[in-house]
Amino acid sequence: MVDVLLGLQWGDEGKGKIVDFLAPQYDIIARFQGGPNAGHTLYLDDKKVVLRTIPSGAFHPELLNVIGNGVVIDPVSFKAECAEIEALGVNLQRSLIISEKAHVILPTHKALDKASEQAKGQNKIGSTLKGIGPTYMDKTGRNGLRVGDLLQKDFKDRYQNLKEKHLTLLKQMNFDEDISALESEFFDAVEALKKYKITAVDYWLNEQLAAGKKILAEGAQGTMLDIDFGTYPFVTSSNTITAGLCTGLGIAPAFVGKVYGISKAYCTRVGSGPFPTELFDATGDLLRESGHEFGSVTGRPRRCGWIDLVALKYACMLNGVTDLIITKADVLDGMPQTGICTAYKVNGELTERIPFDINHASIEPQYEYIEQWDKELSSCSQDEDLPLSFKHFIGLVEKQTGVKISYVSNGVGRNHLIIRK
Ligand code: GDP
Ligand code: IMO
Ligand code: MG
Repeated sequence: MVDVLLGLQWGDEGKGKIVDFLAPQYDIIARFQGGPNAGHTLYLDDKKVVLRTIPSGAFHPELLNVIGNGVVIDPVSFKAECAEIEALGVNLQRSLIISEKAHVILPTHKALDKASEQAKGQNKIGSTLKGIGPTYMDKTGRNGLRVGDLLQKDFKDRYQNLKEKHLTLLKQMNFDEDISALESEFFDAVEALKKYKITAVDYWLNEQLAAGKKILAEGAQGTMLDIDFGTYPFVTSSNTITAGLCTGLGIAPAFVGKVYGISKAYCTRVGSGPFPTELFDATGDLLRESGHEFGSVTGRPRRCGWIDLVALKYACMLNGVTDLIITKADVLDGMPQTGICTAYKVNGELTERIPFDINHASIEPQYEYIEQWDKELSSCSQDEDLPLSFKHFIGLVEKQTGVKISYVSNGVGRNHLIIRK
């Protein structure tokens, strides 16, 4: 069976921490989409590590970690990430397996990402500028280079061809940056990447399934950033939902078991785009400070607001979530009251659906507020310890989404997790 764990909001829900916690129950952890736009944070005791392309099972020596065909890999960022993890004593040459079908991010893809954002001006997506959009565009445009191509004799010619195409585009966009300076670093990194196991991950994973191995698929970004169902065009360029694991790993839907969906107890977003429950006042600032809401990849301050059950219900529906996980509940300890958005008023009408025109519609979120609990969530270690008013919060989320909350995370460490009965 393959279980999947993914974000239900706009990313940064705490996926890295939870994968690291669940990892011992599995034999293989597999990333199926995204690339170095992701930043998944784990704590190894007090040591903070932020993973970008490498799955969050990396620190469990008995496991294998897979980068699937749906992921886009930047050799330069990958090399730096491997060096950081290997310095902590992890043998990635043993434990990491990379799909030959994963697409490669070139230096010119990153330049195109920047050029595209510059051209959009005020309407920019707020991309992480890691070259994600242009690489997926070359994939669907049938121009891309894949990891398996790095091993072919004519790789440099194919690289040159694609680079020339990109340079023509960059010229048309009046983007002038010296790419040649980045090339030697890129080719060095390609050599480094070739030292890891590169294989037909699709066949390999299916053989592992046939042998009874347990796989956890790790999502990146979040459902509201999905290319089809997110707040388009302010989204990323891949399918971040459960369906993405089938196309991103080569595993058939019938093998999918549990779907772990993660949501913060409030809501954040980094980059541009609609965010109906965003708080622009001191309460939003307090959430940002208490939750240390600054991007793990870019350091940008994250936009903060209350939990949005309209969006969460939609995300649970799209993903077929079987187990909800609420993270950063402890951050609400510092709030005088907690808001929960249970519906939207769009053009005067109440609705529990996301409007198509979410970018332009005037949405008035409808809130229920819960007064501050009498006991800090950060001090709770089991379900029975949770204060009644937080149980009311849980009840509202479960009722509206129709899914049980299996875990409540109340701190950054592996063991700050309340298992609900
Ligand atoms: P990911 O991209 O979904 O893996 O999430 P990020 O790592 O980008 O952001 C989540 C942040 O919240 C990280 O800094 C985590 O260390 C932190 N975090 C995760 N769970 C909790 C929690 O329950 N409480 C608190 N206070 N912080 C948490
Ligand atoms: P993890 O896996 C939060 C956002 C960017 C931007 C939009 C498009 O850590 O949750 P892209 O670089 O993909 O073209 O950017 O998506 N974004 C994320 N936001 N967490 C992430 O990943 C993100 N990956 C991309 O900020 O708004
Ligand atoms: Mg993140």
